[in-house]
Amino acid sequence: MGTNTHVLAIPFPLQGHINPMLQLCNRLSSKGVRVTFVTTVSVSKTLQTKTGSINLINIETVPDFTIQEVDGLDIYEIYIRSFRASITNGISDIIKKQRDSGFPVKAIVYDSVIPWSLDIANENGLKGAVLFTQPCAVSSIFYHMHKGTLEISRDEGSEVLLPGMPVMGLKDLPTLVYDMNSYPSLLRLLVEQFSTFEKADWRLFNTFDKLEDEILKWMATKYPIRTIGPTVPSMYIDKRIQGNNDYGLSLFKPKTESWAEWLDTKDDQSVIYVSFGSLADLSEKQMEEIALGLTETKCSFLWVVRDSEQSKLPQDFTSDQLTEKGLIVNWCSQLEVLSHRSVGCFLTHGGWNSTLEALVLGVPMVVMPQWTDQTTNAKFIADVWRTGVRCKENGNGIVTREEVIVCVNDVMKGERGREIRRNVLKWKDLAIEAVSEGGSSDKNVTEFVTELKSA
Ligand code: UDX
Repeated sequence: MGTNTHVLAIPFPLQGHINPMLQLCNRLSSKGVRVTFVTTVSVSKTLQTKTGSINLINIETVPDFTIQEVDGLDIYEIYIRSFRASITNGISDIIKKQRDSGFPVKAIVYDSVIPWSLDIANENGLKGAVLFTQPCAVSSIFYHMHKGTLEISRDEGSEVLLPGMPVMGLKDLPTLVYDMNSYPSLLRLLVEQFSTFEKADWRLFNTFDKLEDEILKWMATKYPIRTIGPTVPSMYIDKRIQGNNDYGLSLFKPKTESWAEWLDTKDDQSVIYVSFGSLADLSEKQMEEIALGLTETKCSFLWVVRDSEQSKLPQDFTSDQLTEKGLIVNWCSQLEVLSHRSVGCFLTHGGWNSTLEALVLGVPMVVMPQWTDQTTNAKFIADVWRTGVRCKENGNGIVTREEVIVCVNDVMKGERGREIRRNVLKWKDLAIEAVSEGGSSDKNVTEFVTELKSA
């Protein structure tokens, strides 16, 4: 395959959105597509290559943007508008530069939360492919909101019944939906994902057919869709899977890599890995309960506490201080950690990337959802795929130390833990099958590439 078919990829510049877009780009480039990844200057500086030698993905930058307060707009709205202005100002020049260099662009692959990218594509005579980075189940809820077909009763104990979905309670819906006033601009952003759904030339979802079978079939009755996930780099899945693994991008800089050696000293499946992703903002009380709960389990723990969260740690819990029992770091290579033989359980917020990574790497989960899609992801993890347990909050919205201990023990020990492990391994095999040559997601990426080439 030649590399004359050229796409621009525009991710939303947050860690949880950049990762799946970048890995999709890796796969497209491994199938002979020329890919130009468009991001801000400061994000581009965090790009890492594993070998540093291959240059299959080009990077083009748009200017960094600063957040300036605007009366009547919340911080998210300002962020979204500033990012849009930055892309809009830079993109035509990038498209022109590529054309002048002999690499005309055919299409833009854009994150579903920036649907205005399709207008940019069409104004420049290009096709558009939208990538949904959250599960199809979650996206379908926003689809119903967009169409005005989401009917929910706010009465205590009401059930939410939606086509292709399990019976859900109110609090299984994304937090932005069951508490519509919490972040109105983010809710709007997620509902507007569907504003270009029908007009886009391709609709890609970071999931795989067997994982979300029913809801994907339902969504496909609306418009043709393609699953392309899980977008975990193939080197962590199975070295035989086709795909360039060279690129990763981390917006956070780890202060230490001591966790790697520390994990080596631990027994198989004995360590709890704890991480709440790149955005979660836990209360001090919640941090204390997690800290004390972890200490009282009989297991060792590796806990990622981002720099912005560290002041909330209780006394005696210090970052980078290696102890027999636990290690707290500000960031790590989560994929390396989840692949390590010593990790037996993942205490997670249930972000979609973390969920897929745990599934593909066969790690049982204890889920403590915080916001957005994580509540719905937790419902599926605990009740549909049965690959983990969900922590219950007390009346003050806190997961107590006792609950942490019970949930960790459930997953690490006993019959329930063994059943969860069997389920995770089943899903792991199915995920690998989907992205292996000829698997459902692999076929979908190949078909997408074939259509791109003839577009
Ligand atoms: C956000 C949302 O919160 C999430 O719910 C949504 O599904 C995607 O966007 P985030 O909260 O950061 O993402 O969580 P997640 O989706 O799990 O993504 C975090 C990414 O950061 C993962 O790919 C994980 O591997 C990576 N990570 C996390 C690291 O590489 N190192 C760490 O120390 C922690």
